[in-house]
Amino acid sequence: MLKVAVVGCGGVAQVHGQSIHALEGAELIACADLVPERAQAYAERFGGRAYSSLEALLEAERPDVLHICTPHHLHVPMAALAHRRGVHVFMEKPPAITRAQFAELEAAFSSGEGRLGICFQNRFIGAFLRLKKLAEEGRYGRVLGARAFVTWKREAPYYTQSGWRGSLATEGGGALINQSIHTLDLLVRLLGKPSAVEASCANRHLQGVIEVEDTVEATIDFGGKRALFYATTAYCEDSLVLLELSFEKGVVRMEGNLVTQRPAGGAAIYEDFDEAALGKAYWGPGHQACIAEFYRCVRSGEPFMNDLSSVRESFNLMMGIYESAREKKPVLLS
Ligand SMILES: NC(=O)c1ccc[n+]([C@@H]2O[C@H](COP(=O)([O-])OP(=O)(O)OC[C@H]3O[C@@H](n4cnc5c(N)ncnc54)[C@H](O)[C@@H]3O)[C@@H](O)[C@H]2O)c1
Repeated sequence: MLKVAVVGCGGVAQVHGQSIHALEGAELIACADLVPERAQAYAERFGGRAYSSLEALLEAERPDVLHICTPHHLHVPMAALAHRRGVHVFMEKPPAITRAQFAELEAAFSSGEGRLGICFQNRFIGAFLRLKKLAEEGRYGRVLGARAFVTWKREAPYYTQSGWRGSLATEGGGALINQSIHTLDLLVRLLGKPSAVEASCANRHLQGVIEVEDTVEATIDFGGKRALFYATTAYCEDSLVLLELSFEKGVVRMEGNLVTQRPAGGAAIYEDFDEAALGKAYWGPGHQACIAEFYRCVRSGEPFMNDLSSVRESFNLMMGIYESAREKKPVLLS
C-alpha cells in the first residue's frame, strides 16, 4: 500500500484526493495546509491526519509519495524538502517559475534517487492520444504547421480570493504559466523541440488587479514548422481548447474531447472521446490516469512519462515566450 500525503488543500487538491481515494493500493495518510480548517476539512473528506505545515507533516509522518498542490512559487522548495526526506514527489504544474528554480529542481533530483512526476494530465486524455497517434502514423503526410487557442474567463475575484494568483512573485506569470501551459506542452509533445519563438503578452482586462498577463500570443518555430499560439483569460466563457495540426494531406484537430480529421478532398471524420473530468471541466479528464501511472512507475521502478526531463522543452519554450515578450524580439531556444 502506497502511503500518500497532500500539501495544499485548495481547489485542485480535491481532484487529487478523489483520484487517490479511487485508486487501489494507495492510502491518504496525511495532508497539510496553511489554513488549518482547510486541512481539517480535507482530512475529513479523504482520510488521514491534518497538519498546518509541510514541515510538521514530514516530522510526524513517513509518506511514500507527496502531492504538491500549493501556489507556484512553493513547488520547488517543497519538492526539494520532500526529496531530502526520501519522499517521492508528484507535483502540480508548473514545474518552476524561473529558470533558476528549474535548475534547482534538476540539481535536487540529479542523484536519480526518488521520483518526481509533473501533473501535465492532458498528456493522458483520449483526444490528445488520438491526435498524437494520427501525427505519428503519417496517414496525412508531414506536419506543416499547427495552431492552438485557449480562450477562458478569469475575472477579478479569481485573483483576489486566492492571493497568490496575479502576482509575479508567487504565480510567476498568468494566462501562460497557469492556464495555457498544458496546451503549450501538448504542442511540444506533437512537434518536438522548438528552435525559436517571438511573442507578446498583455494585460487587457484586469489592469490594476493583476501584474501578470491575461493574454499571450506566440509564433513558434519547430525546426521549420510554424505553430501559432494564442491564450487569453479575458474571454466571456471557458471555451473548449483547440489544438490543430495541418498536414500535407489534411487537417486534424482536437477541440475539447472531439477529434476531427479533414482529409484533403475527403469527408470529415469525427470521434468523440467522451471522458468525464473529476474537477472543473476545463481541467480535463486526465488527473486520475496521470496519478495512477505515476504510482505504477513508483512501484515498478519504470520511468514515468511526465518526469522532469520530459517537461524541459515545454518549460524552456514558456520561459522563451516570456523573454521574447519582455525584450520585444525573437528568442532562440537552445
Ligand atoms: N493540473 C491542472 O489542471 C490544475 C488545475 C488547477 C490548479 N492547478 C495547480 O495546482 C496548484 C494549486 O492551485 P489551486 O487552484 O488549487 O490553488 P488554491 O489557492 O485553491 O489552493 C492552494 C492551497 O495551498 C495552500 N497553501 C499556500 N501556501 C501554503 C504553504 N506554505 N503550506 C501549505 N499550504 C499552503 C493554500 O492555503 C490553499 O489552500 C497550482 O500550482 C495550480 O497551477 C493545476
